[in-house]
Amino acid sequence: MGTDSGAARAPDALNCRVVPPARPVADLAEDARRGLLRRPRSLPPKYFYDERGSRLFDAICATPEYYPTRAEDALLARHAAAIIARARPGHILELGSGTSRKTRHLLAACEGGATAPTYWPFDVCEEMLLAAGAELARRYDWLTVRPLLGDYCAGLSHLPLPAGRRLFVFLGGTIGNFEPTQAAALLGELRALMGPGDFLLLGADRVKDPVVLHAAYNDAGGVTAEFNRNLLHVLNRELDADFAVDAYRHEALYRQDLRRIEMYLVSTRAQTVRLRALDACIGLAEGERILTEISCKFTPDALAALLAAAGLALDAHYAPPDGAFSLVLARPQ
Ligand code: SAH
Ligand code: AVI
Repeated sequence: MGTDSGAARAPDALNCRVVPPARPVADLAEDARRGLLRRPRSLPPKYFYDERGSRLFDAICATPEYYPTRAEDALLARHAAAIIARARPGHILELGSGTSRKTRHLLAACEGGATAPTYWPFDVCEEMLLAAGAELARRYDWLTVRPLLGDYCAGLSHLPLPAGRRLFVFLGGTIGNFEPTQAAALLGELRALMGPGDFLLLGADRVKDPVVLHAAYNDAGGVTAEFNRNLLHVLNRELDADFAVDAYRHEALYRQDLRRIEMYLVSTRAQTVRLRALDACIGLAEGERILTEISCKFTPDALAALLAAAGLALDAHYAPPDGAFSLVLARPQ
């Protein structure tokens, strides 16, 4: 990584470094073949995040019902100084960084410190990486931003690993968008990159009153519904498909048995969809569902077990008095 330690760039000079997949990973066509042409129908959530989807997610974060962003932001505002004092990072590498807005608390806590860290946002959405990176470079003239474009499901061993103490960051409760075994595997891959002085800061949403959870994924303004349906716009554009977007209804329900939200697109009538890029047609019955996302919720014990399964030891656990959300600081066992 020796070539990446240069001076801060002007915001307009930002560009993304592509992180190549470390193992073969399905593209949208392959995932659609596997997930849409057979039942039960499903697609991985990473396809939500084209530019429009990323903006819609940002709009979800501002809805009155979607508490996780505000809860995590408050935890970061309160504890960023302690986290930075403990981790003393030379590099902050964030998975699924999105707008990087909450991360500003960590960056602000580094301001005027002994070492100015380099920030490495890693995301699948190039437009968001560039916009967020430019905004950070404008706010913090001392900060070097190195955006990384890639898929964190494709293995992490091709991530640049700069020398020095590293703080890995994975916020928003995005770890909940994985099945439990996949979540442990992803954190295990992260653990494999970590040296003895490195830390992981992980945000996770907590099990709570199902009414609160249901509202968070069914906002009255319909932003989450639009985010969900955006997947159909992506399929229409990328796979030359003809989903009638308005003929699908958003459904999000909390499965208490699995402690997770399941989000679906439900066909409101019997319809046939053509996916020209796949040279295929699918028939959806009225009421038939496509699973588009799971969002797992954690108890403190489940979170501790997840860290342990990944070879990580809990260093600090930050949560508000109502236990709505957890931020955990972990290090290699
Ligand atoms: N961390 C931010 C954004 C969370 S939304 C927050 O807490 O608000 C999830 C983010 O992960 C989006 O920015 C999305 O583009 C990114 N993402 C989703 N799947 C991804 C994948 N497979 N690889 C890399 N980034 C991904
Ligand atoms: C990105 N992720 C943590 C969000 C969540 O809550 O699972 C995505 C989301 N889906 C609907 N609303 C928000």
